[in-house]
Amino acid sequence: MDIDRYERYWMWAATGMLVLFASAIVARALAESAHPPSHTETVDPETLTVSGEFASPGVRRAPDGGVTVSMRAELYVFAPDIVRVPAGVPITFRITSPDVLHGFQIVGTNVNATVAPGYVSQATVTFETSGRYLIVCNEYCGLAHHLMQGTVIVEPSR
Ligand code: CUA
Repeated sequence: MDIDRYERYWMWAATGMLVLFASAIVARALAESAHPPSHTETVDPETLTVSGEFASPGVRRAPDGGVTVSMRAELYVFAPDIVRVPAGVPITFRITSPDVLHGFQIVGTNVNATVAPGYVSQATVTFETSGRYLIVCNEYCGLAHHLMQGTVIVEPSR
């Protein structure tokens, strides 16, 4: 098959770009230990508001000092909508939905999870400085989606 010289150059250039971009993705993923969510945990969306961890959501402190925040994302609020956590310790957010798909993003951190009914999304973050952080729902979930927000108040650790 006879391929024009310039056609061949462009094919090599396009192949080179694909290799370059794929390498950049792999290099960044390795350097930053980026990975897709590996936590899979299911929950019954029909009963989670009645009993169990998500029936009484909130902040829990383990004896070892770890902090866990259980939350519900539901039309159109986060429950609880204000959480107080200490700075400087790892905070594990566990969140699920009893109704439709929501988002859970803590602005200014790398916490950004999809919240699907039937599943528990989990993310751990350490707030280095005290202050207020906005939680937003970033999945369109209905007419009042834009009003769905919460607040994390990070208090200085003592
Ligand atoms: Cu909940 Cu958008």
